[in-house]
Amino acid sequence: MVRVKVPATTANIGPGFDCLGIAIDIYNTIEVEECDEGLYIEVVGQGCHEVPRDHTNLVYSSMQKVFDEVCYRPKGIRMTLTNDIPVARGLGSSAACIVGGMVAANALSGFRLGLHELMKLAVQVDGHPDNVVPALVGGMAAACLEGDEVLYVKMDPPPGIKLAVMIPDFELSTAKARQVLPDAIPLKDVVFNISRTAILVASFLTGRSEMLAVATQDRLHQPYRKALIPHWDDIFFYAGKWGAKGVFLSGAGPTIVAILDEGNVTFIDKMKEAVSAFQERWEIRMVDFCRSGVEVSHI
Ligand code: HSE
Repeated sequence: MVRVKVPATTANIGPGFDCLGIAIDIYNTIEVEECDEGLYIEVVGQGCHEVPRDHTNLVYSSMQKVFDEVCYRPKGIRMTLTNDIPVARGLGSSAACIVGGMVAANALSGFRLGLHELMKLAVQVDGHPDNVVPALVGGMAAACLEGDEVLYVKMDPPPGIKLAVMIPDFELSTAKARQVLPDAIPLKDVVFNISRTAILVASFLTGRSEMLAVATQDRLHQPYRKALIPHWDDIFFYAGKWGAKGVFLSGAGPTIVAILDEGNVTFIDKMKEAVSAFQERWEIRMVDFCRSGVEVSHI
């Protein structure tokens, strides 16, 4: 039996659209073994009523990509998916299924693919690298596509900061959140984003956090997506008021993330109070960085 523990991710981090992401300590766990025949999928936790139990299951179809790649044919598969990552909330649940399934299949078939091959396959399925790469390697990752290849650099998050996630009770599909984006962006907005992405990465690499409020600003996707998220302005306003050093949409949303000083112990309660009047329910909690990425073991 193989066990894979794969982290949630928060992508974009404001200006780093489709290229930056951070792994956080919310996990999906996959326990999988070969059996004599058939496909048996048990799902526990987030999305357990909606997740398909047949060949269309994303973990299973991702496993198949690896089996095809290495020409391995299991007789049957039995697996249990224990999901803590909220579904369709901008926390990389799909990337976690893809990465988890591929890493599990690679373990079952004798570890024939290396990290880069798995990364390449996972990015092909997910479409962009900003969730997949940190889910695989942990920490904060910058990634780009060069032809078919995925290039990435892993960074350690700066010391002295932590993250709060603000997760609403409604789903938002990535497809819908990408549909609202324009085909062309004015040059001044591109420069706005490039400069902030540069400052953001430089801040992480040098362990500095005093410019994060500006470095997490964005003009490529957030201005277009905010209409999909009720109380956007209120949440950004209150998060700033209660000490957030930077606030950004997590991936395609609808979750919003605040970067906090480690010593900020009042943020969660203050934000819970602020959102209590909203019509939707917002779950607000601290998360830690996942520094090591996906883990796989034989049990
Ligand atoms: N970078 C992607 C987006 C993340 O913002 O659409 C979602 O997978």
